Order: sequence, then structure tokens, then C-alpha cells
Amino acid sequence: MRITVEEAACRLQRGEVVAIPTETVYGLAANIESEEAIQKIFSLKNRPVSNPLIVHARDYTTVCEYIHEKPPHFEDLCTHFWPGPLSLVLPVCTKKVPEIVRAGLNTCAFRVPSHPVAQLLLETCTFVAPSANLSGKPSGTCVEHIEKDFGVDFPVVEGKVSCGVESTILAFDESEEKWQLARLGAISEEDLFKLLGYRPQRRQKGEKPLCPGEYFRHYAPNTRLLLEKCPSEECVVGFSDRYYAGAKKVFALGATTDPLQVAHNLYTVLRLLDEEKIDVARVDLDIPDEGLWRTIKERLIRAASPT
Ligand code: TXA
Ligand code: MG
Repeated sequence: MRITVEEAACRLQRGEVVAIPTETVYGLAANIESEEAIQKIFSLKNRPVSNPLIVHARDYTTVCEYIHEKPPHFEDLCTHFWPGPLSLVLPVCTKKVPEIVRAGLNTCAFRVPSHPVAQLLLETCTFVAPSANLSGKPSGTCVEHIEKDFGVDFPVVEGKVSCGVESTILAFDESEEKWQLARLGAISEEDLFKLLGYRPQRRQKGEKPLCPGEYFRHYAPNTRLLLEKCPSEECVVGFSDRYYAGAKKVFALGATTDPLQVAHNLYTVLRLLDEEKIDVARVDLDIPDEGLWRTIKERLIRAASPT
């Protein structure tokens, strides 16, 4: 059910869950004050309660009300990237952020979204919002995706997402005194390097997870995705400016000259594979290992991963 921003604000106040556009992907929002609504998010998404949520706040000052420590570069990161697609995992005053949001951790992820719909709603309350999708599946990036996952009666505000992939998440590593990359996203490692003066390290497999939910399967369609070229390939997830000899069907992500467009289309294409009940598709991963391409590549690899 398509609702206005005003209606969404009322519903958040009443302790209901609503789907809203952000500049990254659609989110399922619940008022931080409503434990019942937050619980509902987990059941709607079929999300394990060990996977914490991101708190969405109106501005830097609001975020500061929840935290008890400001790591080095925190202010610079906020000034430069907020409002926008960067989430920061920070040590919090545990009394102020409900345990269910943090999955029991003493840290919490925060972001200040720039989307006008999210900003309007944040004037009325602070909310938590995971991506709007069933747990493990590709995120929702338009109203149709929300209707497909949660039904046509689910309240959703219409709006355009601009990035198409989730926010980049940085977490401060106390022992190294440096920010670590907890999730690649809409902001590139190069942009972070410019501000931090070092490249935030990606978390290594086998390293103690930052949160129990870190290694859950993500972004995956039912279609089996192959990352290696095979002799007879019927379906290819690839690019509009490349030719795939022998392929009967090409699901184009966009042009190899336009990573913004490719990121924007990524989840729509992954979802389309399931809609068309494609059994197997090969993914063309011949893309640069830099900037936004790196995020796109990582999402495609994770979408193809069986675990
Ligand atoms: O772009 C986005 O960030 C979107 C939009 C809706 O804002 N939200 C989003 O939320 O992607 P979600 O729940 O789908 O992904 C949040 C990720 C999860 O992988 C979770 O494990 C991680 O953030 N996370 C949350 N709190 C954390 C914490 N305290 N420590 C480490 N990771 C955390
Ligand atoms: Mg998600």
C-alpha cells in the first residue's frame, strides 16, 4: 500500500514498521523507541536476532547523544560524508540503544541518510532500518521489490534510491587505533583513504567477527551463479556494451563505462533472475578492482557464494 511521508511518520509514531526509500537502498524503518516494531522487523525479514541494526539519525548531534566515545577522525568522517551513505560502528551508552538493536553488543552502527524522505521522517523520530528484503536475499531498491517481498498491502513510501547498493560501514578497531572496513558499499575505499590518510583494512575471513551476523549469506538469488566462464552458457549476467557469444539471454547490469548505473541496477537484475526462474547464469566479473566496481564485484561474488 503506497503511503505518503506524513502517513509514514504517523505510523512510526504508532510503533508500526514502514518501508522507505533511502539514498542507498529501501529500508524497513521502526521507531527506536518501539521495541515491538523493532521485533517485528526481525520477523518480517526472517532475520536472525544476532544480526544488529543500523540506527538512522537526523544529524551528527543526535548521534552524539547515543555514544560515549569519539574515535579519531570521527568528526572529519561525519563532516565529510554525512548526510550520506556511510555507517559508523561506535561504542555506545548501552542504556540508550535498546539491546535488540545492538544484538547485545556494546557497539552500534549509525548513519545519517541524505534522502529527503528519510530526512523528513527523522525530524519526527530516530529509527532503525535494515535493508528492505527477506534475509539473505538481494536488497530492495524500488516499490515493486517491497511489494514482491512483503505483499501489496505493506505500507511503503514511493521514492527513488540513487546508489542502489548499501552504505559503506566503518568500525573503529581499538587495538590498531584505526578504522576497519566492515562492509564495502556506496562510498569507495579510495574516498576513505583521501580522508583518513590510510586505507581502512577489510576484515579477514577467520578473524573474530565484529558481530555474530557478519558472515551470513547475503544478496543471493535462488539462481545458481557461476563465476567462471563455461563452454556452453545460456544465461549471462553481464554488460550492455559487451558481446557474449553463444548466450541465449544476457541480463545487462549496464555499461562498463558507468559503475553508478551498474550499482543502481544490480539488485533489480539479481531479482529478475528469480522472477524468470533462471536455474544457472554465469556472471561476467571482468571489471576493475577499484572504486565502486570493487563493491559491485564483492556483491556479485557473495551472491554466487553457496554459504
Ligand atoms: O544502506 C544501508 O546501510 C541500508 C539502508 C536501509 O540504510 N541499511 C542496511 O542495513 O544495509 P542492514 O541491516 O541490511 O545491514 C546492516 C549491516 C549488517 O550486516 C549488520 O551485521 C551490520 O550492519 N552491523 C550493524 N550493527 C553492527 C555493529 N554494531 N557491529 C558490526 N556490524 C554491525
Ligand atoms: Mg541487508
